[in-house]
Amino acid sequence: MELVNVFDYEKLAQARMAPPLWDYYQGGSDDEVTMRECRAAFERIKLRPRVLVDVSAIDMHCEVLGTPVSMPLLIAPMASHCMAHPEGECATAQAAGRAGTLMIASTVATRTIEEIAQAASGPLWFQLYTYPSLKVAELLVRRAEDAGYRAIVLTVDLPRLGNREKDRRHNITIPPVPYQEANFVDVEKVGQAWVTLTWESLAWLRSITSLPVILKGILTGEDARLAIEHGVDGIVVTNHGGRQLDTAIPGIEALPEIIEAVAGRCEIYFDGGIRRGTDILKALALGARAVLIGRPVLWGLAVSGADGAFSVLELLRKELELAMALSGRPTLASIDRSLVKM
Ligand SMILES: Cc1cc2nc3c(=O)[nH]c(=O)nc-3n(C[C@H](O)[C@H](O)[C@H](O)COP(=O)(O)O)c2cc1C
Repeated sequence: MELVNVFDYEKLAQARMAPPLWDYYQGGSDDEVTMRECRAAFERIKLRPRVLVDVSAIDMHCEVLGTPVSMPLLIAPMASHCMAHPEGECATAQAAGRAGTLMIASTVATRTIEEIAQAASGPLWFQLYTYPSLKVAELLVRRAEDAGYRAIVLTVDLPRLGNREKDRRHNITIPPVPYQEANFVDVEKVGQAWVTLTWESLAWLRSITSLPVILKGILTGEDARLAIEHGVDGIVVTNHGGRQLDTAIPGIEALPEIIEAVAGRCEIYFDGGIRRGTDILKALALGARAVLIGRPVLWGLAVSGADGAFSVLELLRKELELAMALSGRPTLASIDRSLVKM
């Protein structure tokens, strides 16, 4: 059977994974209102296509912080890829490279920073959790720099873990045994579970690295302004896939006020609920430079490792290409706010 969209991958992946691991991937927090809204918000936004435009050639190449990518679709940082496939993050990094795009590797990956860099054929960014101490976090940043990662993505929406009730019902630890957080295998885990971050922490991060810094987890214009005042290079507008504060606003509804507050002073990326090419188109029209996808990549990985993750990326590329053609927007520059009706 041909897998024609990402939902086909979702069904097949579920059939292949043990329920506690599947629920860990799929679940949100509390009543999963935000998680559902991520999808519903996209369905509410309508497109205003233009016609009689030459769409015989579609160009979706772009740059993110100066790094060229073949399309404005990147891989979001996610924990524990080895639950989907034994090669885990190494397979995902190979898929990203083959698709000409970039992967953001998570602090709590199941393959090490160095293993992922070795397997990768494309650019990488490193997602940082300051866990369990700033000393350990500094070590991780150094390792990422040494391994050639090009930016640090500091996740700021996880001062504590959200209330994931499915995981509690399965009585699983995070990450579930035996999936180790590979980056910590030789690290003595002394310190707090999560180091409390404040806006002052950005000076600390700047003091330990010269890599560009991106904040992931901004949902308001107020915080976007503060991010700019603190000199960040990029922002990911996201609610963490509905896994943190339930009933938080869908990212796509927060995007316009953040674009307005930032006014071109740094790059803005978006994630949460991207499942169709038209979703990508809407996020770009509202001002995102590129989008990240999360769970669909894990579905592809669970179905057939690097090939599956690659197929998911290619499927979304084709859908975006078609959506650009059908809406009369042959280049990324021609995608603007007039394309959407909120
Ligand atoms: C299984 C899973 C693990 C995740 N782990 C991380 C993580 O380690 N760091 C992080 O910043 N975000 C993490 N996220 C959030 C994603 O980066 C992203 O914001 C979200 O999944 C995007 O929504 P989508 O899954 O609907 O595409 C995780 C998400 C999932 C589903």
